[in-house]
Amino acid sequence: MPTMAGRGDFDLAGLRGEFPIFAAQGPRFHYLDNAATGQICRAAAEALIDFETRARANVKRGVYRLADEATRAFEEARARIAGYIGAREAAEVVITSGTTHALNLAAHCLCARLRPGDEILLTTAEHHSNIVPWQLAGARVGATIRAIPLQTDGRLDLDRLADLLSARTRVIAATHCSNVTGAITDIGRLAEAARSVGAVLVVDGAQRAPHGPLDVQALGCDLYALSGHKLFAATGAGALWIRSDLAQELPPFLGGGEMIRRVSIESSTFAPPPHRFEAGTPPIGAALALGAAAAWLSGLDWEAIHAHEQRLLERLLAGLKAIPGVRLLGPEGTQARAPLVSFVVDGIHPHDVCQLLDTFGVCTRGGHHCAQPLHEALGVEASVRASIALYNDEADIEALLDGLEEVVRRLA
Ligand code: ALA
Repeated sequence: MPTMAGRGDFDLAGLRGEFPIFAAQGPRFHYLDNAATGQICRAAAEALIDFETRARANVKRGVYRLADEATRAFEEARARIAGYIGAREAAEVVITSGTTHALNLAAHCLCARLRPGDEILLTTAEHHSNIVPWQLAGARVGATIRAIPLQTDGRLDLDRLADLLSARTRVIAATHCSNVTGAITDIGRLAEAARSVGAVLVVDGAQRAPHGPLDVQALGCDLYALSGHKLFAATGAGALWIRSDLAQELPPFLGGGEMIRRVSIESSTFAPPPHRFEAGTPPIGAALALGAAAAWLSGLDWEAIHAHEQRLLERLLAGLKAIPGVRLLGPEGTQARAPLVSFVVDGIHPHDVCQLLDTFGVCTRGGHHCAQPLHEALGVEASVRASIALYNDEADIEALLDGLEEVVRRLA
């Protein structure tokens, strides 16, 4: 375990050593696509391999020793995730396949509280995963979708809340952190708005969760979604936190095994949360990996990590601003912003930029990043995105900036 007691003691080499990918890929590997997926940490990889090769059995079903151990490990993983996000109790955490599943679950189950003519308030900054499920839910019940627009700096214009809220607003669904601009949403203000009209606040935390432990209770939201693969665990598992009193009243999402109390041919009764929302065999190994990552991350010095991420972000922003033809999207500075930056390069398609950066060993993402309304509001079709995680270093940022300068020299 690396020691990261403070700025001077920040042991980045030790931290990077906890991520097997760096030894496997060698020095010419500059991974700046962390908003798409993070690299798996050793604790998570070991938990996954240990379960699959030494301790594999289905959970919540068998009564033999191995099955009992698997069930206990699964519930321990749930408790570790609950600890990382500050849930009051482990039972508030539903294991899902990821954020998309979590938000579909939220939208489907919250339909039970919607009536024709009700309103669902989204934001223009949402990932498609926090738009499309609400459109499907709205169409099912006859509810209308509204959206908080952007200010000119790319942040949400929360001053428009007063106009957009109404007695018909039943749900507010917003990202905690934009996957395109990195802008952090003032969730406290949305929570206050939701409370003022009796709406439920659903937060997409996929991009915020990898940047340190959370306190979902203090945030004041009602549901919070995250993905394990972005939290340095395996692909295939994520979580949805549902405030316990709300979870009790929501109907199931998927039907199937282990989410029931009693089934007859005519009808069924359902298990209490969280099992009511976990039909079928869950992604057990990936959930254990997520629990292991959450526990490992909980023990790190996040003050030191934030300072490190912010230093890299400052250097990245300054370097990009100095390259002719590069235009940054979203907020200018580093305040209330996760360490990720999207930009366009005059005259060069984002996919071409990314492919050329790859020849310098730099991994970035190009496209609309599943956020077409946001790109439209910013006046572009697509962008290049560089997203930083705790293990990135100065060499990654310099490789991106040097590579981009070369790309612009050759093509612009
Ligand atoms: N949602 C992920 C991204 O923004 C995949 O790249």
